[in-house]
Amino acid sequence: MTSSLAALQSFKQCPHQRALSFQALLSPWKVRMNESPPSSNDDAQAGKQRAAQAALEYVQAGSILGVGTGSTVNAFIEQLAAQASRLRLRGAVSSSEASTARLRSQGIAVLDLNAVDALGLYIDGADEANRARQLIKGGGAALTREKILAAAAERFICIIDESKLVTTLGRFALPVEVIPMARRYVADRITRLGGRPVWREGVVTDNGNDILDVHGLTISAAIATEAAIDQITGVVTVGLFARRPADLLIVGHSRGVDRI
Ligand code: 5RP
Repeated sequence: MTSSLAALQSFKQCPHQRALSFQALLSPWKVRMNESPPSSNDDAQAGKQRAAQAALEYVQAGSILGVGTGSTVNAFIEQLAAQASRLRLRGAVSSSEASTARLRSQGIAVLDLNAVDALGLYIDGADEANRARQLIKGGGAALTREKILAAAAERFICIIDESKLVTTLGRFALPVEVIPMARRYVADRITRLGGRPVWREGVVTDNGNDILDVHGLTISAAIATEAAIDQITGVVTVGLFARRPADLLIVGHSRGVDRI
């Protein structure tokens, strides 16, 4: 588990992995000249902080909150903890072991989804979003539990920095969680759909499964792509959140936030 976590951290931070998806998608990137180029790391950090801060406004005192995974959510958890005495949360339902540990370290109780009558609000980040609030998620390998919480919640607010807002999804390689014994079969099927799956070696999800990162997809019909990959036997979850998009997208940038 420790080596999985280390591999995951390095995937999230490793420019080579991100570069891979850029390299693989060089021509679509050229086509999308109307999109803003990726902002600097400092801008991205400021954007994440601002989006996280803006999301706090939607958290109701005394509620149970769904909490996602990733660095933007980590910024949110920190700000949530700073408001603990005002908010008096009954607890959080977490989308990953990493967020569970972080929530607990901040003194926030973590509840089992099965023990919760209703989940009013779920807050999570994303790897990519379009203006229809459809998302690519799973860069942190937590996509299955994230999708469960998004489905269960009455309202899903997604918080991102502006570098993640795109016209067409697919610049970020699409994560797919698969049952380990089906990895090769699923990869073959995805190749037939026009994608280039790459096994995220060394990463095991919280559910004990593997991740394929699918490069080379230009996702212009996100609901259809989600359905096509979902129905491959052996797929646990595809990291496309199109059938259930976010209800509100908060996009942080260095000057403030936009709400979509
Ligand atoms: C984890 C996710 C995250 O929401 C996504 O990777 C964004 O992470 P970050 O806020 O660190 O950029 O889907 O599975």
